[in-house]
Amino acid sequence: MKNTVTTFKQAKQEGTKLTMLTAYDYSTAKLVDEAGVNAILVGDSLGNVVLGYEDTLSVTMEDMIHHGRAVSRGAKNALVVIDMPFMSYQTSVYDAVVNAGRLMKEGRGGAVKLEGGSEVCPQIKAITSAGIPVMAHLGLTPQSINAFGGFKVQGKSIEAAQKLMDDARAVEEAGAFAITLECVPAALADLVTRNVGIPTIGIGAGAGCDGQVLVYADAVGLYSDFTPKFVKRFGNLGEQMREAFSAYVSEVQQGSFPAEEHTFKIPEDVLSQIK
Ligand code: KIV
Repeated sequence: MKNTVTTFKQAKQEGTKLTMLTAYDYSTAKLVDEAGVNAILVGDSLGNVVLGYEDTLSVTMEDMIHHGRAVSRGAKNALVVIDMPFMSYQTSVYDAVVNAGRLMKEGRGGAVKLEGGSEVCPQIKAITSAGIPVMAHLGLTPQSINAFGGFKVQGKSIEAAQKLMDDARAVEEAGAFAITLECVPAALADLVTRNVGIPTIGIGAGAGCDGQVLVYADAVGLYSDFTPKFVKRFGNLGEQMREAFSAYVSEVQQGSFPAEEHTFKIPEDVLSQIK
């Protein structure tokens, strides 16, 4: 069944856990969709995972549209949420609405996600007023990595924890349909979850959230540059791919690939007439 923002609302009311994984291309989106996730996030983590950048800051609108469109073609039932890249919404409410619109029209997403709390509430209000569902993102927001001074757990002091709670209430009030909570203490994420009426989707935020999200390449062992503590490996595809690539190289070198069954035939009488 097709997942929508209504699915998210119902899940919160009924207490059923929501699932989200990232994907950046058609084939992976199909596999993730077939696994039955509620949402596929075309995260700007594509900057790290697919494009090899050290952070997400260089990701462009064109990157997000290109990958969003590919994922949308592969997702039959999952809600496709596309990240708004760095500086596509922080600059003004106008930019935010125009760029969110492009992610829907050109990227074919079903919702957008943006990072930040009360400071981006005018953007959330304007985008949702334009009929575009917004997922908020609080806690460790990777686009602000330079302001945080590194990848650190957020919300550990009284002030920071209270700000997280206030921001969660503010983004709900502004119209967000869900909140991604990244890298916050589990007990705080649980408290926030119980104090807002929209679902929280945790990543490094414990089991008390209404749902979970992981970067798919982390979950299946494809991305190994950096593995945060909160990642669980559900598979080791990186190792399997390395073995498969090595087998290909040695079979080609030894002449055992391609074999008879991988080749096409031509009638002998045709071939014999070729000078
Ligand atoms: O870009 C991304 O993949 C994300 C997740 C880490 C939630 O925002």
